[in-house]
Amino acid sequence: MSGARIEPARQRLQRSELAVPASRPELFGKALHSDADYVFIDLEDSVAPADKEAARAAAIKGLRDHDWRSRGKTVSLRINGLDTQFMYRDLVDIVEQAGDRLDTILVPKVGTPSDVYLVDVLLTQIEEARRLPHRIGIETLIETALGMSNVEAIAQSSRRLEALHFGVADYAASVRARTTSIGGTTPDYPGDQWHSALTRLVVASRAHGLRPIDGPFGDFSDREGFLAAARRGAALGIEGKWAIHPSQVALANEVFTPDAAEVDRARRILRAIDEAATAGRGAAQLDGKMIDAASMRLAQNIVSMADAIAARRTPALTLVTSGR
Ligand code: COA
Ligand code: MG
Repeated sequence: MSGARIEPARQRLQRSELAVPASRPELFGKALHSDADYVFIDLEDSVAPADKEAARAAAIKGLRDHDWRSRGKTVSLRINGLDTQFMYRDLVDIVEQAGDRLDTILVPKVGTPSDVYLVDVLLTQIEEARRLPHRIGIETLIETALGMSNVEAIAQSSRRLEALHFGVADYAASVRARTTSIGGTTPDYPGDQWHSALTRLVVASRAHGLRPIDGPFGDFSDREGFLAAARRGAALGIEGKWAIHPSQVALANEVFTPDAAEVDRARRILRAIDEAATAGRGAAQLDGKMIDAASMRLAQNIVSMADAIAARRTPALTLVTSGR
């Protein structure tokens, strides 16, 4: 292990993240009562250009009128991109008028660390001017060739950063991949064509204490397709996935929640390693398989996720927060 110290981002459950267009405020209440860990109110691509201003006003009202926190939701706002005329007002108007109700800003199409810097500086000024009681986090969408080529630098660009998201559709457009689907595989490619991009995003995220999150799967009638994509991501280290329709929330929660047998085995590994250490051994066997300190670290990941989920079910307990 390197002596370099990685501060983990503020910890939050982010197994499922329901996207809600700000131009459809009638969906806010449904999102509030869903089982999604996260809800993001979208001002970007699900809102038509002519509706941007009305959507901004609706987002402010939606943040103020609903008690997202008491329902255990993390609430995020996807602003418009830095290459649009809408972005500065999205940030200024919404953070000034409803910043106290907002947990994170999701910045789309981040290409360089300076994109994050701009958002960070504006947030710092607004928080100070409005004496906001908490620091708003930043999450970035990596969904362009430029963003992916700079992903390691972007992952280190701000202490507000909490998560990097893979935006498959814009990424496909940016690299000119031959598809018109939002996520999923193609018979033209032997395997998962998003594998290397996802892996790159996972490594950059984990190297800097951030959560790697997978974006949308557009065909919401294809339950098996969603599950398969989510499981491939989980196998690589992805921590959660978007739901672009309420039917996908339960699927994401299912995939990104360790099941009872997995948690049981993880706890048995931890006990067996403890017993081995007491007996003066580092490696041991469990059910005919070798386990050692690396097994212990793998098992701890599972147990700490299970504990965080259990704490969320018990409102009296709050998630452990750390770092930044
Ligand atoms: N959040 C909360 N509730 C939602 C919802 C969402 N994102 N999408 C749909 N619902 C509700 C509907 O209002 C409906 O409720 P009802 O049973 O009380 O009438 C129910 O879920 C079923 O919805 P359905 O009729 O199947 O879908 P729709 O035609 O209303 O909307 C989409 C389909 C895809 C347009 C819609 O789900 C949507 O806008 N998703 C998010 C898109 C987005 O944010 N994209 C940007 C990120 S990629
Ligand atoms: Mg996008």
